[in-house]
Amino acid sequence: MKKTSAVNVVAIFGFPIEHSLSPVMQNAGFRELNLNYTYVPFCVNPIYLKDAITALRALNFKGANITVPHKEEVIEYLDEITEDAFLIGAVNTIVNVDGRLIGYNTDCKGFVSALKSAGITRFDNINALVIGAGGAGKAACVGLLKANIKNLIIANRTVRKAELILENFKKSFEKTKISVCPLEENSLKTALENCDLLINTTSVGMQNESLALPIESLKKGALVYDMVYNPPKTKLLKDAEKLGHKIENGLNMLLYQGVEGFEIWTKKKAPVQVMKQALFDVAYK
Ligand code: ATR
Repeated sequence: MKKTSAVNVVAIFGFPIEHSLSPVMQNAGFRELNLNYTYVPFCVNPIYLKDAITALRALNFKGANITVPHKEEVIEYLDEITEDAFLIGAVNTIVNVDGRLIGYNTDCKGFVSALKSAGITRFDNINALVIGAGGAGKAACVGLLKANIKNLIIANRTVRKAELILENFKKSFEKTKISVCPLEENSLKTALENCDLLINTTSVGMQNESLALPIESLKKGALVYDMVYNPPKTKLLKDAEKLGHKIENGLNMLLYQGVEGFEIWTKKKAPVQVMKQALFDVAYK
């Protein structure tokens, strides 16, 4: 009789989940390396999050991705989290090591890899301006701080939230000058004049609205990064491109955070080009 070998299941939990592009990207990677792995989306109502996490152990799943709205709450159900996840206060990737669930945040490394793929080779001579102080903003800040960015300004509509990031991070990252800026024209103008890297981490731009940034003040040669990837070019990116800036949307960040996860679950080098092709095909088909 032929034995059945159990498939290694990786889940993604979100609410809703239908929009997720990760299953196509991860399954393309598993197929490429001929791995006995499958990646399955689950729509998990927040009231069942604890049960869903417990099920990872009970069903011996290899791990999971965690997406909106569970990234913060999930932490209390895990056995251990990494330093990045602790600093950001959010987990997007779990690995199940013999029943021990370890939480990672691969968004910050994914973000830095995306910046490198956009041509940034060193960070210690760069002044960055991060717009937004939510989970995505914190992931960007941790990524930049760990890459030893020279100067980091955090601008947010609710200034207090940006101040809290500064207070939490300044002791751990003494090499970088960190400051806070209100989302207000004159302060932004000054920040933009000296800025080499402008990053929008808010979801503004997904719909037809846009941030009121005095983008014409942005330093010549600066890269403008928008974590939004749908639409592929937000108004911010279109305006920046018209002014001659290099632009990049968030799809490569989604790719590289997934590449990190793939390598954590499988302990194998991810087939990045295959995963990228699958992701870009499904995102912009
Ligand atoms: P995420 O995890 O995707 O970062 P979040 O934690 O809800 O989501 O954070 C959303 C971020 O977008 C916040 O920085 C938020 O600003 P506030 O802290 O002032 O709420 C920012 N944001 C959302 N809508 C915005 C808008 N219309 N204009 C400016 N900032 C906005």
